[in-house]
Amino acid sequence: MVGVTPDSHVLHHKDITRPIEFDLSRPLEVEVGCGKGRFLVARAAANPDCDFLGIERMLERVRLFDGKCRRGHVDNAAVLRLEALYTFHYLLPAHHVRRVYVFFPDPWPKKKHHSHRLFGPLFRNALWKRLETGGKIEFATDHGEYFGEVCDGFAADARFRRVEPMPRPKEVWTEFEEMFREQGLPIHAAAWEALAGDDAPLEPLTVPPEAEPREGVARRAPRAERERMASNDNQRKQRKEQQ
Ligand SMILES: C[S@@+](CC[C@H](N)C(=O)[O-])C[C@H]1O[C@@H](n2cnc3c(N)ncnc32)[C@H](O)[C@@H]1O
Repeated sequence: MVGVTPDSHVLHHKDITRPIEFDLSRPLEVEVGCGKGRFLVARAAANPDCDFLGIERMLERVRLFDGKCRRGHVDNAAVLRLEALYTFHYLLPAHHVRRVYVFFPDPWPKKKHHSHRLFGPLFRNALWKRLETGGKIEFATDHGEYFGEVCDGFAADARFRRVEPMPRPKEVWTEFEEMFREQGLPIHAAAWEALAGDDAPLEPLTVPPEAEPREGVARRAPRAERERMASNDNQRKQRKEQQ
């Protein structure tokens, strides 16, 4: 895969104003929030004629994905440490992706945080633009309310048709799916196919004025994000102390 070496499966895409280069003679599958890569790396190993890109913003998980690929010599998989909406909007080739997987995305359960959810009109537009006609998006979550919201969004979008989701035998469970199943939580899954449609260019992404970076003003991360980061830091500290 372009950008992969035996020593690194992390795509170092320094100039994020330019699209990522892919070998367009090969099919491409993409997983959003791929975590440690259990699902995607196994799928890549079993399908050497396709390229696989994981998008994940947490550094530790990116490193674990990379390690799995290196140990398994899986040279058709790579991971990109970037924000998923931005990546879909600006960096992926148009109408080339065969499958997109979004498994257990953060549900942002509090109403005041719903705007942080991945699935919305902006992501659907960028997703449709990147999927080939007939390409599919596979989605799974433990969160019933979020599942309903995502299904309603796709149902109202004439560019997508609901199809049977992929089977979910144990072999395809992600880390979070395994954990949720152990807790006895329900797993909701759905898939949609991209249909031919009006191929208008994507509008540039904008951020609300209050989130614009300004000289001398560092924007604070939202409270939920800060709490999660603090909890990650504590876990890291505890692990270090145990070593
Ligand atoms: C709840 S975890 C699920 C991980 C994996 N899909 C699984 O099922 O085991 C959500 C993952 O998505 C990543 N993530 C969340 N929002 C993201 C975004 N906007 N761009 C890239 N990664 C994101 C998080 O860092 C986290 O690893």
